Amino acid sequence: MIMTRCINTISVLTLAVVIPLFFSASLFAEDNSAPLDNSLVEKGKIVYDSNGCAACHTLGGGKLAGPDLLGVTKRREEQWLKKWLKSPDTMIFTDPIAKEMLKEYFVPMPNLGLNDEQIEQLIIYFKKIDEQVKD
Ligand code: HEC
Repeated sequence: MIMTRCINTISVLTLAVVIPLFFSASLFAEDNSAPLDNSLVEKGKIVYDSNGCAACHTLGGGKLAGPDLLGVTKRREEQWLKKWLKSPDTMIFTDPIAKEMLKEYFVPMPNLGLNDEQIEQLIIYFKKIDEQVKD
């Protein structure tokens, strides 16, 4: 009797340790990057809203004059996005991905004169939105 109770206690204790370990391990596996800074996400949204991006893009609502930007941080490298947001008007002549896009969309995206800080914020905003997109 004492023996069974002892074993029961041990198994309860083992479960109490193993189960949370299991869940925290899978949480870490999902989140392979640092959490995004919410104040930068907010700033990115402001940059997006105040530079007319929504005239040509949606974020999950389908194509307009330009591509739907949902998932853009998954389909493009961060360095590529930085270069693109800095100078879409020159990349359209030099970059193979940009040239392919132009074939589909016909309109070249204008250079919106964004600075590096605004570009960083925009990318963080896109990453936040892309947390809902599976890899
Ligand atoms: C006048 C329309 C227009 C505006 C305004 C515009 N874009 Fe674009 N954008 C496009 C088009 C068209 C493309 C596809 C490439 C091309 O044809 O130049 C594109 C491509 C992109 C891409 C690459 C998409 C991909 O799938 O790789 C990103 C990112 C992007 N735009 C972000 C922005 C952001 C951020 C803003 C606002 C600061 C903005 N765009 C404003 C038309 C526009």
